[in-house]
Amino acid sequence: MSDRLNVVVGITGGIAAYKAVGVIRLLVLAGHDVQVVATDAALRFVGKPTLEAISRNPVHSDLYEGVSEVRHVAIGQAADLIVVAPATANTIAKLAAGLADDLLGNTILASRAPLVLAPAMHTEMWQNPATVANIAELRERGVTIVGPGSGQLTGTDSGLGRMVEPDEIVAAALAVVAPKDLVGKRIVITAGGTREPLDPVRFIGNRSSGKQGIAIALDAAARGAEVVLIGANLEIAAPASTTIQHLTVSHVSTTSELEAATMAAAVDADVVIMAAAVADYRPQSVAENKIKKETQGDRLTLELVRNPDILRQLSEARRDGQIIIGFAAETETNREKLLETGRAKVVRKGADFLVLNTVGWTEGFATETNSIIVINTAGDIVSEATGSKSSVAARILDLLS
Ligand code: C5P
Repeated sequence: MSDRLNVVVGITGGIAAYKAVGVIRLLVLAGHDVQVVATDAALRFVGKPTLEAISRNPVHSDLYEGVSEVRHVAIGQAADLIVVAPATANTIAKLAAGLADDLLGNTILASRAPLVLAPAMHTEMWQNPATVANIAELRERGVTIVGPGSGQLTGTDSGLGRMVEPDEIVAAALAVVAPKDLVGKRIVITAGGTREPLDPVRFIGNRSSGKQGIAIALDAAARGAEVVLIGANLEIAAPASTTIQHLTVSHVSTTSELEAATMAAAVDADVVIMAAAVADYRPQSVAENKIKKETQGDRLTLELVRNPDILRQLSEARRDGQIIIGFAAETETNREKLLETGRAKVVRKGADFLVLNTVGWTEGFATETNSIIVINTAGDIVSEATGSKSSVAARILDLLS
């Protein structure tokens, strides 16, 4: 999954076609080459210029264009993965029958690449015996079906048939082609940032979004590991365990909740990855009611106490063979100084590996990309990566295999 893949994104004519833009965007950001094959009906819902700008490639839709290049088979032959999102009832029926009356049908028939469909239609169409039989037939042939989910449909009705969100489609699709090099490994990953309450409405927190930790969890699950993701105040939706196999997600907020959840989950884990940004201090006491300026006056002093160091506790409780990976987000921009800080920290924390990165007002936190250096206990650089958080996640997990 770490390598650049040739991904064909097929778009068919449902209103959810506008969400295909998100699918393409995520695949491009993850470093893959995306060729869009849209049906005529799809192009009535979403414009070619949008798809070309986002995919960074020409959009293919006409069976009779590029005939000299034998395009109707060339695109499918070159594909490593084909994702159809949305997949309408009509396209599902055509695929089940093996029809090739448009460019998408030809592309799919001419390809040996894994096929992933994200159906989108009204509940009645999804539950129609014809669709049920077509889906069963496609599953039987090894096609992966992602969703549909339940929720608001195009009209005023809601129910089963809604296309699942782009991030889940992309995660499920990439999981199909990921190397299965972590099968049988139990991996605990923390993500996000802890919050320490001051009163019922306020907290001390940090800007970690959880994106890097979630990317590691998704890649680990795709590679076959049994993953426990412990999210602390994630800024983006946590992946749904219903669409992603091998993944369990739980949510915590404070450092003490994160400590309890992580220590419990670590007991039978082969690997623990502490990607969460943990508050080093918490208010000594939490006010029962909202702290008011009317009673506090012009100054307010907060008394903070040290939080437990979860990473160090994990290292101290480490079982034989268990691997513990910590993160160190530093505002240090000088590479040598960053390494120096990291080398002292990896020893102090007792971790097997420490992932170092620079954070600042505009760097690291809540961004789509990351740049890391990984060191081992001896302080040697064992890996370096720059790119999307999912490509960085893959490099970190490569250390395990
Ligand atoms: O000490 P520092 O916060 O720089 O160390 C960062 C690493 O330690 C991260 O992996 C973080 O998840 C972990 N950590 C922890 N408990 C704390 C503070 C940080 O486990 N109280």
